[in-house]
Amino acid sequence: MLSKPLIDRYNRNLNYLRISITDRCNLKCIYCMPRKLIPMLPHKDILRYEEILRIVKIGVRLGISKVRVTGGEPLIRKGVFGFLEQLSIIDGLSDISLTTNGVLLKDSINRIKSSGVNRINISVDTLNKEKFYKITGYDYFDQIWEGIEQAEKMNFNPIKLNVVPLKGINDDELIEIARLSFTYPFHIRFIEYMPIGANQINADRHLLAPEIKKRIEPLGRLIPVVKSAHDGPAERFKFEGALGEIGFIQPISRHFCHACNRLRLSASGQLRPCLLSEYQEDLKSLLRKGCLDNELATAFFEAVRKKPSEHNLSTDHPPKVLSQMCVIGG
Ligand code: 5AD
Ligand code: SF4
Repeated sequence: MLSKPLIDRYNRNLNYLRISITDRCNLKCIYCMPRKLIPMLPHKDILRYEEILRIVKIGVRLGISKVRVTGGEPLIRKGVFGFLEQLSIIDGLSDISLTTNGVLLKDSINRIKSSGVNRINISVDTLNKEKFYKITGYDYFDQIWEGIEQAEKMNFNPIKLNVVPLKGINDDELIEIARLSFTYPFHIRFIEYMPIGANQINADRHLLAPEIKKRIEPLGRLIPVVKSAHDGPAERFKFEGALGEIGFIQPISRHFCHACNRLRLSASGQLRPCLLSEYQEDLKSLLRKGCLDNELATAFFEAVRKKPSEHNLSTDHPPKVLSQMCVIGG
């Protein structure tokens, strides 16, 4: 008999599971993937869809009600739409969302919609084609923008655009990016860069939310939006008269650990209670030893018990997390 719910030592209810289904990506964003070749997970070490679904079903029986599918780039994994459909018929999951870099969005938007995904986040750090090439190593800007517009026509709501602002890279465009919220119902989310994995962005490129807010101030006053129960860590605002919103995710300048409701399942089958700690429960080994559901449930409880109260990431400390973001899931 499985018992619920997944409440940790600090009284946080961990009802949200982020699932990385692949460590592979068709872009190489400077803040995420190193440009040099790095070893990827061998295919046999990546969880199979049926393994992920079994874990999710157990998680749901324990109290998970929201999942986000991410990567790497989730849309490059074969069979992803069938997997999303299977997720969407799990009883007890009230919210299924997807984070994508948008490269394959245009041709897959219908399938994403019909598979039961209700919300999508798209990473787009610039509105300039040349700069897009510099940031990601590929010339896909127009294709991604078409995908975003297509998603808007299909009434995904909300469509969140994730932007990682970096000095000397895209900080001259923050106003233009924020201005999109006047013409489109998009939620623009500025995410502070986190020093994770092998890529390393120099500290002098870091740009924190208070400075970002100052840079976009000429567009008007940022009016706070009241948070709703299912909200993530973003601090939300709206410019007067805007269709969309502006959000700030501030892992560095304003820790939101006290309100964190997340667990993460990595592409390699590790359950991680915190993005910024290397502690993980090895669900893949359990599964492949032929474990019982109760053993997986115990691993969930153990991960919850070990969730740290907060991380100690700051601009002055070198990173401690050496796992790649694309394996853990951004
Ligand atoms: N710091 C902050 N955000 C990051 N992302 C990827 N790597 C980092 C990092 N080191 C973002 C991507 C993606 C989201 C899931 O995480 O922009 O949109
Ligand atoms: Fe790929 Fe996303 Fe990483 Fe960019 S941030 S390299 S799109 S996984």
